[in-house]
Amino acid sequence: MRDIVICETPDDAADAAADVIQRQQAAAIAARGVFRIALAGGGTPRRLYELLASAEWKDVIAWESWEVFWGDERAVPPAHAESNFRAANDALLTRVPVGEIWRMPADAQDLNAAAADYARTLRSRFEPGSLAFDVVLLGMGADGHTASLFPDSPALESGALVEAVTAPHVIAQRLTLTLGVLNSARFILFLVAGAEKARAVERVLREEDFRLPATRVIPRDGECWWLLDHAAASLIR
Ligand code: 6PG
Repeated sequence: MRDIVICETPDDAADAAADVIQRQQAAAIAARGVFRIALAGGGTPRRLYELLASAEWKDVIAWESWEVFWGDERAVPPAHAESNFRAANDALLTRVPVGEIWRMPADAQDLNAAAADYARTLRSRFEPGSLAFDVVLLGMGADGHTASLFPDSPALESGALVEAVTAPHVIAQRLTLTLGVLNSARFILFLVAGAEKARAVERVLREEDFRLPATRVIPRDGECWWLLDHAAASLIR
């Protein structure tokens, strides 16, 4: 089951995403005393991160109860311009008092060992047998990839929690959460904007084309919302 929300502009979509996250974190903290979120990389979430750090949202969020993780990370140092950690850190995490930050160590020499390390981190933070993020924030590429799960990647069939992958991207080496982790989430939030994503959005949401990794992100028990701007939704309206 997917809920689709079409907003006029990318800023409206970021506003809607901030509202969803504020509500989900309040519910999680009320129920379990903690809110665990996996952040997305790429450029789309930047506006959302800045919004959450703004006076409009900052003071209605219980940051101290947040544990922050990532859905994927490029094999670059945390200060690198292409680092997903740096993107969230600069726009949000240095501006709010988040409880715990669990960076994906994709800058490690041995990426397979780093994947196993992050899997151990996940197991250590979640209650045994219930590795369910409260929110997983995801973007989507024009090829239908999400996190660093790309079309035809062997990682799509992995039973591990975290995989080291080689992506068809200028920064090829990455770490990514696997579909098993994503689909265990209580709430998946796709934030997708821009006309260049419209065809992939149509293939995922209208054609259910399972060749696109984003089509395979359907939480087993959780909710899945797609927040789109007008341009990204232009072929499904
Ligand atoms: C990454 C992201 C990736 C991203 C999409 C969309 O590390 O590249 O995790 O999955 O969400 O590529 O990127 P944009 O938001 O920049 O279009």
